[in-house]
Amino acid sequence: MKRLEIINILGSPRKNGTTARIAKAFTETAERRGATVKDYYLNGMQYRGCQGCEGCHTRSEKCILRDDATQILEDLFTADITVFSSPVYFGDTSGQFKSFYDRMWSLIRPEYISNPTDASRLPKGKIALLILSQVDTRVAHEDVLKRYSMYLKLYGFSVKTILASDLDMKPNTDISTYALQAEQIARELVLQ
Ligand SMILES: Cc1cc2nc3c(=O)[nH]c(=O)nc-3n(C[C@H](O)[C@H](O)[C@H](O)COP(=O)(O)O)c2cc1C
Repeated sequence: MKRLEIINILGSPRKNGTTARIAKAFTETAERRGATVKDYYLNGMQYRGCQGCEGCHTRSEKCILRDDATQILEDLFTADITVFSSPVYFGDTSGQFKSFYDRMWSLIRPEYISNPTDASRLPKGKIALLILSQVDTRVAHEDVLKRYSMYLKLYGFSVKTILASDLDMKPNTDISTYALQAEQIARELVLQ
């Protein structure tokens, strides 16, 4: 059986923060079950946000910027599962994450408005796991989870989510409940 390919896009600058640790619970379980995992730590990469040039919808079928985001955008076409994780910063995702997310605009077909059911350039059958974490209560930023899930669905992903809430900012804050959720999702998605 083909080994599932996972890319793990880490949107927090905290390498061992809550979202990174929850994502790791997912990827380690998936690896043990035979999947391959490639990590992308956005904070250590050099890339620009979307320039709104529409080059991806006029001159090219891909984003015309060439930087560290290029490889991630390429990998989205081949990966079976993509993990997107970010802390909530001021009622949105981190700047690092948002800048990358905007670059995903190049995954949308130019005719997406007239044909919204086939809006994505990605092959069908992709799965996304979206992990967000915050200090506030679960309901405080549910809009963020809903909004980012909605766009992932537009890109054609089947979306799983984990919203880690009521956390403190200590590096070793207890994320065991969410790690268990992540491990459970890995077991569902990566069959042995
Ligand atoms: C600049 C900044 C802005 C933040 N804004 C919010 C916020 O609007 N709502 C919230 O609940 N937590 C907010 N937080 C807390 C983080 O979302 C929270 O600590 C999160 O769990 C960190 O995830 P990480 O460990 O993966 O980086 C903020 C933290 C920082 C540093």
